[in-house]
Amino acid sequence: MTKIGVLASGRGSNFRALCEAAKRGGFDGKIIVLVADQPGAGALEIAREFGVEALTMSPGDFPSREAHEEGIAKALEERGVELVCLAGYMRIVGAPMLKRFFGRMLNIHPALLPCFPGLHGQKQAVAHGVKVSGATVHFVDADCDAGPIIIQAPVPVEEGDTADTLAARILKEEHRIYPEAVKLFCEGRLKITGRRVQILPARASGGAKK
Ligand code: GRF
Repeated sequence: MTKIGVLASGRGSNFRALCEAAKRGGFDGKIIVLVADQPGAGALEIAREFGVEALTMSPGDFPSREAHEEGIAKALEERGVELVCLAGYMRIVGAPMLKRFFGRMLNIHPALLPCFPGLHGQKQAVAHGVKVSGATVHFVDADCDAGPIIIQAPVPVEEGDTADTLAARILKEEHRIYPEAVKLFCEGRLKITGRRVQILPARASGGAKK
């Protein structure tokens, strides 16, 4: 069973979707820790609800950005975390996390990458006038929202959509595809070759193959 750690900054609906999927056996993994970088993050409350250890690690409690990330990475490592899921984690991860977890760290983004990376992907999509946007689960690398793509779900942009109405429809897809990507990881079915992620046929043993 893959040991999963989740990092979140905000309300935590994707974290909840992962907790619910774990509970119903949607993947062969156990969420063992939630780390929030904001003391008020809704995700902390969800962790308590699902009996997941919850840590608040605020950047202000560390001497530097690097030390903050190092602290989080060590906390995950000490608990034997094998897969890290960023779920609305509003920080760019750097060397301390990447050196330990590259190929074992996923993120969810509310747009069809490489379109509309960064903040407010839904607002960017509406402003640009695209007819289709969606959600992406990808491996995390050193660049923002740029790592190898695992699953994407398209969501049509409708006449009269605002960033909020589009975001609500995209969110439903996020909650569907994030647990699906975690399931594939836990089954050892994700093979990264350069920018591409190949989904291997069903097999035993967890972890991403490089
Ligand atoms: C989601 O839209 C996710 O794609 C993005 O941040 C948002 C987090 O929402 N990275 P929640 O905290 O999971 O509800």
